[in-house]
Amino acid sequence: SKTQVAIIGAGPAGLLLGRLLRLSGVDNIILEARDRHYVENRLRAGLLEQPTVDLLDAAGLGDRLHREGKFHEGFELRFGGRRTRIDMRELTGRAITVLYPQTEVVKDLLAARDKTGDLIAFEVSEVEPHGIDSDRPTVRYRDAGGSAHEIQADFIAGCDGFHGVCRPAIPSSLVKTFTRDYPFAWFGILADAPPISAELIYAHHARGFSMHSMRSDRVSRLYLQVAPDDTVENWPDERIWTELQLRMGAEGSPRLNEGAILHKSITPMRSFVTEPLQYGRLFLAGDAAHIVPPTAAKGLNLAVADVSVLSDGLITFYRDGDRSILDGYSELALQRIWRAQEFSRAMTELLHHVPGQDFEARLQRARLEGLVASRAAMTTFCENYTGLPFAGRI
Ligand code: FAD
Ligand code: DHB
Repeated sequence: SKTQVAIIGAGPAGLLLGRLLRLSGVDNIILEARDRHYVENRLRAGLLEQPTVDLLDAAGLGDRLHREGKFHEGFELRFGGRRTRIDMRELTGRAITVLYPQTEVVKDLLAARDKTGDLIAFEVSEVEPHGIDSDRPTVRYRDAGGSAHEIQADFIAGCDGFHGVCRPAIPSSLVKTFTRDYPFAWFGILADAPPISAELIYAHHARGFSMHSMRSDRVSRLYLQVAPDDTVENWPDERIWTELQLRMGAEGSPRLNEGAILHKSITPMRSFVTEPLQYGRLFLAGDAAHIVPPTAAKGLNLAVADVSVLSDGLITFYRDGDRSILDGYSELALQRIWRAQEFSRAMTELLHHVPGQDFEARLQRARLEGLVASRAAMTTFCENYTGLPFAGRI
């Protein structure tokens, strides 16, 4: 078959790209390795930045988000047993972040695609991009039933996440990758317990970082810093609650509500960027191109920011025959990617505790004290946290 843009991967990046292209009349096909139920229910990011919300609005995907999303104007920082509420709205004027989980964004994107009737093939295998350095790239794959297919496309969008096939399709001699690993991971739980606050709480403690988020008025989402090689089996429910209560404890704060733990998982922490994001007719976007540690909640937002620029480039090409934005995609997207990398690393290193690094721990404390004491420093922090503007014009 034939299409204009073959999109590999139906995560937030691929689905949003498909949606924006369709709205401008650009044909596209999406290939996805997993089944629809898996894609819709994969538990991941929670926070949307304002620029992400604006783009979803522009793509006609804002209705349920505005009805059900929780708009946050502040958050809380805890360290040394003390609590500081940070008023993002007051400090940055425009600042809000929205608690509307990735699972819901993906459901809305899939529902919108159902309505336009564009093809999305789930449970495909042996996906291979070919001829990406030619004018006639193709993607070969097997469908859910095992039959072989080939798609001819003008362009291929690699939105297939960190473990996808698109990034490795670029000759390694032309690529430079940048990596940083961290000596810790995140243990995340979903608990049938009402959150103790309507806002997020980020807590720094000598026992390690923890955070309090939520998925509804009845369900808490909680994270604990653990060792990178730790396992879910090491953490019976009682140990989780004891540790969370210790790390989250602060003057005048109620204890966390405890309840049945509905889900447990461990997420490794990594910073990663590949450069450039383009090779011939292949363009990488989202986790296929970069990974941030989860602390600042930038992963999903960064994927959306990439797609904002990439869709702009593709749409301008088809509408005006002008390839300049598309050819500038990598450079433009990477500017914002590196700013988000910088902030994600800084916020991660501000809040986590590395056992044995005593000098670093004192500096960390000094950094935290400096941050809450300075309106200027906190304003800069909030500008980054709430989300830098997107470079795409859509
Ligand atoms: P993905 O969502 O990874 O989508 C890629 C898609 O491509 C997947 O559906 C995959 O099945 C598909 N695919 C892969 N290979 C192929 C192939 N060969 N052929 C076809 N399809 C393929 N971010 C936050 O901001 N906050 C968080 O709390 C947070 N938690 C996370 C927890 C985990 C466990 C992970 C892995 C990520 C988390 N993230 C978080 C990051 C955030 O979820 C990602 O940045 C976001 O999903 C990126 O979207 P994407 O579309 O680029 O990639
Ligand atoms: C969530 C995750 C984050 O990394 C964060 O900074 C805020 C919220 C969440 O999953 O709700």
